[in-house]
Amino acid sequence: MLVLLKPSYEELSREAARIVASVVKNNPAVTLGLATGSTMLGMYRELVRLHKEQGLDFSKVVTFNLDEYLGLAAEHPQSFHRFMREHFFDHVNANPANVHIPDGTIGGDYEEYCQSYERAILDAGGIDLQILGIGRNGHIGFNEPTSSFGSRTRLKVLTSETIEDNRKSFSAGETMPECAVTMGIGTILEAKKILLLATGATKAETVAEAIEGPISASVTASCLQLHPDATFVIDEAAGARLKQRDYYRRVMEMTARFTPNRLS
Ligand code: F6R
Repeated sequence: MLVLLKPSYEELSREAARIVASVVKNNPAVTLGLATGSTMLGMYRELVRLHKEQGLDFSKVVTFNLDEYLGLAAEHPQSFHRFMREHFFDHVNANPANVHIPDGTIGGDYEEYCQSYERAILDAGGIDLQILGIGRNGHIGFNEPTSSFGSRTRLKVLTSETIEDNRKSFSAGETMPECAVTMGIGTILEAKKILLLATGATKAETVAEAIEGPISASVTASCLQLHPDATFVIDEAAGARLKQRDYYRRVMEMTARFTPNRLS
């Protein structure tokens, strides 16, 4: 696991976008796993800038989003479909046929739907680079505490903490979805490379638990300790509770010097 500590949210966002851009340049038909949430805004903004100013090409890139609220149609202002269009897809040249976001309006056979999402990922050759945020309770995707490390794409009931955290994007009085369709931990761990972004003091405790705590389904992001190529890109505030901060800084320096490919 690599921990990249960045002085600010802006630098964290630029670093994450730089890593994504480098992966896309190396393999224009790369398969990306994408996330939503406020942490992602700076990275998407920078990727859009790289597309507009430097011609970063997304025309062959294949994408799979992690999750979507159950019950929200793609047009719903708070849907993750809408988030992705507004902050990324409307501004780059991705081919809509290559874009996959779970359908929040699945009718009866949701198990079949979730299996078909898994099959589509396999048919695309698996996810090359998975981007993740982290919830205050340590969730990745919507894999809430106690999610199985073997879980696949499925419906998940959201904890009241997650519902409260995400209420800020909904209008006053609007009903918050209580369930979501999410890739599972097993799905996420199969990605070849993983990049987790975290910002702000409210994430500091959880980030420390995920990186330095025991591997536990109580903090599902701790599963990334089992992944051979996981990188945490975090700002100083989110990294404030890490015990090994000085060590991570030295590793960052040495990595940049001796194995720069690990960062691309
Ligand atoms: C969203 C997702 C979630 C968020 C997490 C952090 O697609 O997968 O795990 O990444 O809830 O959200 P923010 O960045 O809003 O704190």
